[in-house]
Amino acid sequence: MRVLGIETSCDETGIAVYDEKRGLLSHVLYSQIPLHADYGGVVPELASRDHIRKTLPLIQQALKEAGCEASDIDGVAYTAGPGLAGALLVGAAIGRSLAFAWGKPALAVHHMEGHLLAPMLEENPPQFPFIALLVSGGHTQLVRVDGIGQYQLLGESVDDAAGEAFDKTAKLMGLDYPGGPLLAKLATQGQADKYAFPRPMTDRPGLNFSFSGLKTAAANVIAAEGKSPEVQADIAASFQQAVVDTLVLKCRRALKEQRLKRLVVAGGVSANTSLRQQLEVLLKSLKGEVYYPRKEFCTDNGAMIAYAGFQRLKAGQQQDLTIGVIPRWPMEELPAL
Ligand code: KG4
Ligand code: ZN
Repeated sequence: MRVLGIETSCDETGIAVYDEKRGLLSHVLYSQIPLHADYGGVVPELASRDHIRKTLPLIQQALKEAGCEASDIDGVAYTAGPGLAGALLVGAAIGRSLAFAWGKPALAVHHMEGHLLAPMLEENPPQFPFIALLVSGGHTQLVRVDGIGQYQLLGESVDDAAGEAFDKTAKLMGLDYPGGPLLAKLATQGQADKYAFPRPMTDRPGLNFSFSGLKTAAANVIAAEGKSPEVQADIAASFQQAVVDTLVLKCRRALKEQRLKRLVVAGGVSANTSLRQQLEVLLKSLKGEVYYPRKEFCTDNGAMIAYAGFQRLKAGQQQDLTIGVIPRWPMEELPAL
């Protein structure tokens, strides 16, 4: 079976072709970051208009790079949520319609399930069950995963997501959008113990997160200490360490509570080198293993959607002829395979 995957939930148009026997045949990505940079964040209407322009040409390119024709595609998978309604609708309309025209099944993919399964595209994929830490611009969740569609939400952020906290703090520091990766780069030159940022919700039991207070703490330090390059680097390093410490502590707690030794980390923030290193130290101390996608598949991409769609299409799932999106979509609502 060969599946075309389409991702248009936010500010990246990602297209990929996944083949059951040969794995990933092609993946192409168009990032809208320069388009939104002037506004300091994603402008939903501009995102939708750009997906309209880019999706079909990128599908042509992905098919060409995969060395296949439309007739070689056995199913089409598109992100149906969560995400920006207009942006999602572009991928859903194109994906559902192409499948209809080609006489093939279509499947609506959950964006976070895409992230969650992205490490399966790597050489040493994790076995079920495992704990997943999903850290993106919109979500911070700890999930117990017993199989595809067998998801138990153990904890999540009660306010900002980890990526959102990175982006908002970076904005306060005057960095461009999206600031997360830029802040992480700056952090490599700073001292992580310079400023004592809070480790929110770590002093009480439970697996929920709260990151909104961190940006207030950062704003106070910026107001007091100014924005010299040295101060910026120290704020970045201290802020990053506070987020990483918090995530590592909750991962340890979740693994212990669930008596598991495998941890999957996915979503944009899983590209963060410091987070990866410190989770590796944790899992080594627990004699377990941590799994994450290659860096380009941590952030949004078509490959993870093609893969998640392939798994469900292969199991016989498919959509009716409605062109539908689900901008708010709890992952636990997904059917088990
Ligand atoms: O998964 P993703 O591409 O989009 C969503 O589904 O939200 O995640 C994007 C988020 C942004 O907040 C971005 O700043 C953050 O991931 N991010 C990072 C890094 N790379 C991306 N945050 C910290 N360190 C990084 N290296
Ligand atoms: Zn994402």
